[in-house]
Amino acid sequence: MRCSLSPPSSLITLGLLATTVLAAPPGRTTEADEALITDPDAECTGYSFQPVQDALSSFPSLSAIADIVPTDTEAIDKFNSFKDKIPNIPPKGTPEGDFTGLSYPADDPDCWWTNTQCVTPKFQGIPPDVFQVPEPLTVGYGFDDGPNCSHNTFYDYLDSENQKATMFFVGSNVMYYPLEAQRALVDGHEVCVHTWSHHYMTGLTNEQAFAELYYTIKLVMGVTPTCWRPPFGDVDDRVRTIAAGLGLQTILWQYDSFDWEVQAGGATPEKVDANYDDFINKAKNGAFDTAGGIILTHEIDNYTMSEAIKYLPKLKEGFKYIVPVGVALNKTQPYVESNYSLPTFEQCNSQAFAENHQSSSQATTPNGASSRLILGKNSVSGTLMLGLAGVLAILHL
Ligand SMILES: *[C@@H]1O[C@H](CO)[C@@H](O)[C@H](O)[C@H]1NC(C)=O
Ligand SMILES: *[C@@H]1O[C@H](CO)[C@@H](O)[C@H](O)[C@H]1NC(C)=O
Ligand SMILES: *[C@@H]1O[C@H](CO)[C@@H](O)[C@H](O)[C@H]1NC(C)=O
Ligand SMILES: *[C@@H]1O[C@H](CO)[C@@H](O)[C@H](O)[C@H]1NC(C)=O
Repeated sequence: MRCSLSPPSSLITLGLLATTVLAAPPGRTTEADEALITDPDAECTGYSFQPVQDALSSFPSLSAIADIVPTDTEAIDKFNSFKDKIPNIPPKGTPEGDFTGLSYPADDPDCWWTNTQCVTPKFQGIPPDVFQVPEPLTVGYGFDDGPNCSHNTFYDYLDSENQKATMFFVGSNVMYYPLEAQRALVDGHEVCVHTWSHHYMTGLTNEQAFAELYYTIKLVMGVTPTCWRPPFGDVDDRVRTIAAGLGLQTILWQYDSFDWEVQAGGATPEKVDANYDDFINKAKNGAFDTAGGIILTHEIDNYTMSEAIKYLPKLKEGFKYIVPVGVALNKTQPYVESNYSLPTFEQCNSQAFAENHQSSSQATTPNGASSRLILGKNSVSGTLMLGLAGVLAILHL
């Protein structure tokens, strides 16, 4: 069942919204309408969503490297509030990830993941990165780079499996496809930040790195995420400090499907299958008996999403639990807004176990009930309203 949004009548802003979204073509004005479209071409036809249109001037240019909007005193104040704590580490290489000619000490003084896969900061006071999950036989299940315009088949599948995931959204993509972004919230997925324009973060200035995170946090339709994943895993202690200053936990991975490389011509589908299979076989051979794993996978295109659909049942053969990263971490409050919550890992899986033991027709892994506990749809729709109100608040309406 899809969520039908029934707004509390007190939210007058919604009425306002209803009159301002007329610019969108029929069927593309609400999350629920958008979620019903299954033809990829129709899904990927651009549309105009008035709250986003109106907010554009308060945000950096879409898909370009973000910088602090000069008139945005709130952002400037926020940056100033912790800029003195940022370690004095110069940007590395280019924002496109060209590190040619960079001379960097072999002992990795900046804990630069791209260089040594370092996940334990050397600079004091920054929490370590998450690259695995503490719960055994568990996948911290997530997808990068969304929302992709054509994701409804994939999200329908996850919904049918009652499977929740962590979605690492690119800010500009959210602006292009805001209703698709809302769907992630309505479906009960955990939303984390994957920067505004998907560049190498260590190649940016402090202000740019701040803006890449700040404006992506702001726009996910009213919720304020508390987690992020660096594109390409490119993070060092300078960038970690900026993320931590914005309340973001850094989430990496230890295994890579390289699914994204098929579109780019860098990997074959056979290689991606082998990467997924390897991850699953490691699980079967005990590699995750003391701590669970995170494998990098994407919501980029039809191929990566089809692959995710193909591999969910196989992942269940190797792992007992497949849950959003936040659930695997027992992080019960995924957003700053306190009226969203995630169940603890234990809550998820005691329910899930019960269901699994009752139903022999189910696949071996009990994810179903777990998911239902996450972000109950009623509260989500309520907060989604709040989210839209939040957008309107940005517009000073
Ligand atoms: C999560 O919380 C449960 C109690 O609800 C506890 O048993 C479990 O060890 C916790 N796991 C982690 C990784 O903190
Ligand atoms: C989203 O996926 C569709 C279907 O594969 C693809 O045509 C489109 O280019 C993707 N969008 C982006 C921004 O990569
Ligand atoms: C991939 O594209 C095919 C052909 O349009 C479509 O039937 C299928 O549902 C798509 N898969 C996903 C996951 O979007
Ligand atoms: C969430 O909290 C806000 C106040 O912070 C409130 O206005 C809103 O109704 C709450 N939403 C839900 C679904 O509880």
